[in-house]
Amino acid sequence: MKGLLLAGGHGTRLRPLTYTGNKHMLPIANKPMLMYGFDQLRASGIKEIGVILGPLQEGIIDALGDGSKFGVQVTYIAQPEPKGIAHAVLISQRFLGDSPFIVHLGDNLLKDNIPEFAHEFLRSGADASVILTRVKDPERFGVVLVERGRIVKLVEKPKQYISNLALAGVYFLRPTIFPVIEKLKPSWRNELEITDAIQRLLDVGGKITYHEVSGWWKDTGRPEDILEANQLVLKDLKTSIGGMIEEGVTISGEMKLGEGTVVRSGATLRGPVVIGDHSEIGNNASVGPNTSLGSNVRILGAKIENSIVLDGTVIDCSERIVDSIIGKDSRILSSEATVSRGRRFVVGESTFVTL
Ligand code: DAU
Repeated sequence: MKGLLLAGGHGTRLRPLTYTGNKHMLPIANKPMLMYGFDQLRASGIKEIGVILGPLQEGIIDALGDGSKFGVQVTYIAQPEPKGIAHAVLISQRFLGDSPFIVHLGDNLLKDNIPEFAHEFLRSGADASVILTRVKDPERFGVVLVERGRIVKLVEKPKQYISNLALAGVYFLRPTIFPVIEKLKPSWRNELEITDAIQRLLDVGGKITYHEVSGWWKDTGRPEDILEANQLVLKDLKTSIGGMIEEGVTISGEMKLGEGTVVRSGATLRGPVVIGDHSEIGNNASVGPNTSLGSNVRILGAKIENSIVLDGTVIDCSERIVDSIIGKDSRILSSEATVSRGRRFVVGESTFVTL
């Protein structure tokens, strides 16, 4: 079995974070988003993984390399324009050959047991298998109508309600999908939709099986989804302290601290919290819960919760920061330090001012 990990697309909904980097490298609990799918494919026993890359490739090749450090072989496949998930599958035909394969969207995180589903798919002889999950907003996803335990219809971003069972971004497929995609027409959003391809497979008598998500699933398209994914992953955090916690720090919950990280006396850590290497939590600062700080981050004085802070950022103020994603090497500083006390004026002639 082979794997195909999709890391193309524009990532426009995550701007400005994605102006300078690929959204798939944004960290969730300090692990790049893309690595969750990559690890699921590896855990399924897959040794050959194709990675779809769009024009914004920042950091992906550095992280995965040729795959050898992860015990797999990585092949990069260029998709200059995001012409659809099915398009990504089609341009990977040479890499996939005659092997069954798993397509994992790079922005989807699933707690479910993909390896188990993969083995079952291979045994079943089905043409395709999908993972379904109930959602409140089916119009944002591909959805499926199930009748008497069988999938009878699949629609991408339905304008009219047909069901609340959405397609999670993991697909188990065989080479029988290629001729179907070749005949596919682009959708209203000008993409070759994998949802349409599976519908066509069904139309020609293909056998499609499914699993409903039993753990959790998250599509990380929007900033609020990223924060929620961060929370979900942090639920399973186990304490490991690589750095130093001075005496007089108030601690609760699970936390992971990287090498060289220092938490100063008087600070508060409310788990779950993960902090990378060589970071500093200052005397009266408070971090957590549900917060991930990268490496070389300094939180001085501030209180931060339910947030993600990327590497190299300094927050030096006495404010409370919540539900935030703060990019690399940023500075959030107190104006008290830079603006002198008192009011500043440039006042013209004949002015009357009351203060
Ligand atoms: O998240 C699940 C949903 O993913 C499914 O319910 C939908 O049926 C499926 O079409 C997809 O919908 P989205 O509109 O959310 O897909 P998005 O454009 O966000 O792309 C999903 C991932 O695939 C993302 O990691 C970028 C990558 N991608 C996407 C396209 C269109 C590519 O690598 N190449 C592409 O051409």
